[in-house]
Amino acid sequence: MDYSKNFYQIKSNEEIFYKVSLEKNTVGYYDLPFQDTSEFKEYAKTVTQQDIVVVGIGGSSLGTYAIHKFLQHKENMKKLHFLESTDPLDLERRISKLDLNDTLFIIISKSGTTIETVSILKYLSSITMLDKSNTICITESDSKLNTYAKTNDMKTFEIPKNVGGRFSVFTAVGLVTMAIMGLDIDRILFGCQTIYNDYFNRGDYYTSIMEKARFIVENKNRFNINVVFSYSSLLEGFNKWYVQLWGESLGKININQTKQALTPIALTGPVDQHSFLQLIMEGKRDKTITFIKVADFENELTIPDVSLPGLEELDYINNIKFKNLINEQADATIEAIQNLKDIPCDIITIEAQDEYNIGKLMYSYELLTSIVGSFVQINTYDQPGVEAGKIILKDKLKKKI
Ligand code: PA5
Repeated sequence: MDYSKNFYQIKSNEEIFYKVSLEKNTVGYYDLPFQDTSEFKEYAKTVTQQDIVVVGIGGSSLGTYAIHKFLQHKENMKKLHFLESTDPLDLERRISKLDLNDTLFIIISKSGTTIETVSILKYLSSITMLDKSNTICITESDSKLNTYAKTNDMKTFEIPKNVGGRFSVFTAVGLVTMAIMGLDIDRILFGCQTIYNDYFNRGDYYTSIMEKARFIVENKNRFNINVVFSYSSLLEGFNKWYVQLWGESLGKININQTKQALTPIALTGPVDQHSFLQLIMEGKRDKTITFIKVADFENELTIPDVSLPGLEELDYINNIKFKNLINEQADATIEAIQNLKDIPCDIITIEAQDEYNIGKLMYSYELLTSIVGSFVQINTYDQPGVEAGKIILKDKLKKKI
């Protein structure tokens, strides 16, 4: 396929591999797959509450939400809730669903001073007694939130300083909650290890991720929108996490003072086949598409062999399993796009909806983000644009006092 390439001193795979390997000394997320998880699992065994509430925003919430959405069918009977937004109606509605006498609050903030998280924490402390029996904090060791937790003798878990918020899902940030919900967190990390080992030993994954990253970067001026099109509703959380990871990591000014504009969009099939697909098919050729399919949903739900009066002509769908239907829908969309021959697309197939596979998928996206960040020569791990808004907000709110 001939995509007009737009090179700007793109480094070789060798240079990028070297740079990413060097980063391992300073960027903490790379080695998380090999950590000891016993503290998280031991703590999880002690949790008796039925309602589990994650209070956090952005990187302190989205990764956990992504795994939860994907693996809800494997969780125990506890109910997991997320308090993230300051929307008062949403907040009240979510809190009204809790049995406050049987709730564990997990307050997560790396900085420990995020307005959304702290305002919700304050509100919670006004409606119920927060103490060591029902509240834990996950934060950096020297944050103000850590001081709050220690003052109240609450259990804390540490977020390593060298792991950024949106790369922190495989720290206590995600793993403590997942362990409480009964998921096998070692299998999640085993999925990450598979990707890590393959990449750093230059296996098949190394080859394919380099090819993908290189294509995205070499063609970024023409195809500057990177669509993830997930054919499973259970990947909606992953989609949100991807948008944050890609946008907040890659949307910034590089060392040559050029603004990078790789723009993430996340769609869910088949629903978005009936909306955004039109724009992909007939709109501007500025998008790469990555389809994510689930090979086996391990569910036998079937369209019954019934004929409905007036709808007889649709009887050809009788006896089709829904898991086959959704994959046929994905394949039909992929074929329609491939027939056009001018929209780059690739396919990721997830073998099963389990811990191992979500670990693999999320870790591979973290790695892809780091590699693309190295190619476009930016600091993948900071977020000055987000920080700017936080500073203005704090100033505005202080002036009101
Ligand atoms: O990726 C990031 O750094 C951000 O999205 C943060 O996770 C988000 O702003 C929340 O910050 P904190 O964990 O400090 O409350």
